[in-house]
Amino acid sequence: MKSIRIQRYGGPEVLQRCETDLPRPGLGEVLVRVRHAGINFMDVHTRQGKYAQSRTYPVRLPCTLGMEGAGEVVGLGADVSGLHSGDRVAWCLSWGSYAEFAAVPAARLAPVPEALALDRAAAAMFPGCTAHYLAHDVAALAPGKACLVHAASGVIGQLLVQFAKRLGATVLATTSSAEKAAVARACGADHVLGYEGFADAVRELTAGQGADVVFDAIGRDTLRQSLRATRMRGLVVNYGAVSGALNDLDPLELGEAGSLFLTRPRLADHLTDATTTRRRAAAVFGGLMDGSLKLDIAGRYTLDDVEAAHAALEERRQVGKAVLTLPA
Ligand SMILES: NC(=O)c1ccc[n+]([C@@H]2O[C@H](COP(=O)([O-])OP(=O)(O)OC[C@H]3O[C@@H](n4cnc5c(N)ncnc54)[C@H](OP(=O)(O)O)[C@@H]3O)[C@@H](O)[C@H]2O)c1
Repeated sequence: MKSIRIQRYGGPEVLQRCETDLPRPGLGEVLVRVRHAGINFMDVHTRQGKYAQSRTYPVRLPCTLGMEGAGEVVGLGADVSGLHSGDRVAWCLSWGSYAEFAAVPAARLAPVPEALALDRAAAAMFPGCTAHYLAHDVAALAPGKACLVHAASGVIGQLLVQFAKRLGATVLATTSSAEKAAVARACGADHVLGYEGFADAVRELTAGQGADVVFDAIGRDTLRQSLRATRMRGLVVNYGAVSGALNDLDPLELGEAGSLFLTRPRLADHLTDATTTRRRAAAVFGGLMDGSLKLDIAGRYTLDDVEAAHAALEERRQVGKAVLTLPA
């Protein structure tokens, strides 16, 4: 089968087109014919080696890239029940979706309703489940709460804004351009700001208090200012670090900023069993189907040009989701 693998960490040049044997589904695994793979910033981080030492997301080289996809079940490993050949499924947090076939743990699979196209399911599974747990479980957003969503035109940013609005929160958002600001507004953001001086702007818009919750996946470039944008005893959710990690944060700074709570959550700890995976996926897929959630597929790629997809993410040019379509 055709796949995209890395044998070492580095820039887009380490992505290799390979011809390999089909993976064999092991105990509790399912063999899936991959139709579409989601292309995510996490793939860039994986390629760069940022998970080389991770216990949550262990990566072993050589690694077939891609940790989100959708397709049909074509084989079952031992000790798998309730799934059948031909079932339409989507998954995330299992590596190997930049390939024609993938062996995926059954507990990571969610059914895809007939009414939802597989490319949309592949696009939404990972960012949808992420935005779902961040808004509902980490931040417990509700009417009367104000949150700040950084990079609100990013894939998770867009979905976070939409879930936050559905939960009744007031949403402040940051983006880096007028075009991206329009995307954040279309998702329902109440106020859209630039990054320059955002903490002061957030305080002005919240009667001097600051936001109850700040969602920050930018990291080094914004996290310190995010502390200043948060109200006393508020919550800072640092769920990523696209600009690099802030390595010198002293806990005392949380005290000085108003006894803040800072968390660095991971989807793996909020997608711990099949029931939770299916519950979150059902909420996301249901929203896409009834129109209450939207996520545009803004970039379509094949195995031949996946480097361009990674470049668009790293250069901040991708607005909306990028999807890799495998050969028919
Ligand atoms: N913790 C979790 O559970 C979890 C789960 C999934 C993903 N993540 C992480 O969440 C982060 C965002 O993922 P995503 O898929 O939403 O990414 P995305 O769609 O590519 O959005 C990233 C956005 O960040 C902004 N940005 C600011 N500084 C940047 C820089 N130096 N380089 C690139 N982009 C920069 C850009 O928007 P502006 O130009 O408007 O600033 C960009 O559009 C990633 O770090 C990912 O690994 C975490």
